[in-house]
Amino acid sequence: MQDTNEVVVLRLGHRPGRDERMTTHVGLTARALGADRVVIAGAASEPKATVEGVVDRFGGPFAVETVDGRRAFLREWDGVVVHLTMYGLPVQEIEGEVRAAHDEAPLLAVVGSEKVPFDVYERADFNVGVTNQPHSEVAGLAVFLDRLFEGRELDREWADASHRVVPKETGKLVESVDE
Ligand SMILES: C[S@@+](CC[C@H](N)C(=O)[O-])C[C@H]1O[C@@H](n2cnc3c(N)ncnc32)[C@H](O)[C@@H]1O
Repeated sequence: MQDTNEVVVLRLGHRPGRDERMTTHVGLTARALGADRVVIAGAASEPKATVEGVVDRFGGPFAVETVDGRRAFLREWDGVVVHLTMYGLPVQEIEGEVRAAHDEAPLLAVVGSEKVPFDVYERADFNVGVTNQPHSEVAGLAVFLDRLFEGRELDREWADASHRVVPKETGKLVESVDE
């Protein structure tokens, strides 16, 4: 049985070659802003390796998976489905209802790339817009996760990191956790 608290991001429509960087950023954003794993539909070995490298270095837990297609994964998902789309209901109006649904069940946040097939809109329990303006899956995901967790994800602690960033007013400092 899936963990009720689990938050998973499903990245649809990855186009090898063209979307490597964007898909990587979906994964990095999912990790940094509190999701437990990202599932990428399509051949995405490069984004998978990059995100896993960040998990090794800066900590987890966070998992990256690839699946051949969305259909079986969406069919078998046992929980709430949120599809992020500029055509959806405004996040600020629906976030309470989404959080209440997630109190009872794991949550899948779906983001697209090119045109998202209509069956995804129909499968979703909530079609959610972060503004009703066109922008990006990375931006939509970031705002949605922050609303879902009400900002608590910003104080998250990471396990099994080999390195950590030391926040500085000016300059850059990354240290080994053994230091
Ligand atoms: C560049 S958009 C392309 C969407 C495409 N035109 C369509 O109609 O499905 C890629 C993804 O960014 C996300 N996105 C873009 N604008 C959004 C918005 N205002 N709110 C939430 N998600 C958005 C959606 O997940 C979308 O699938």
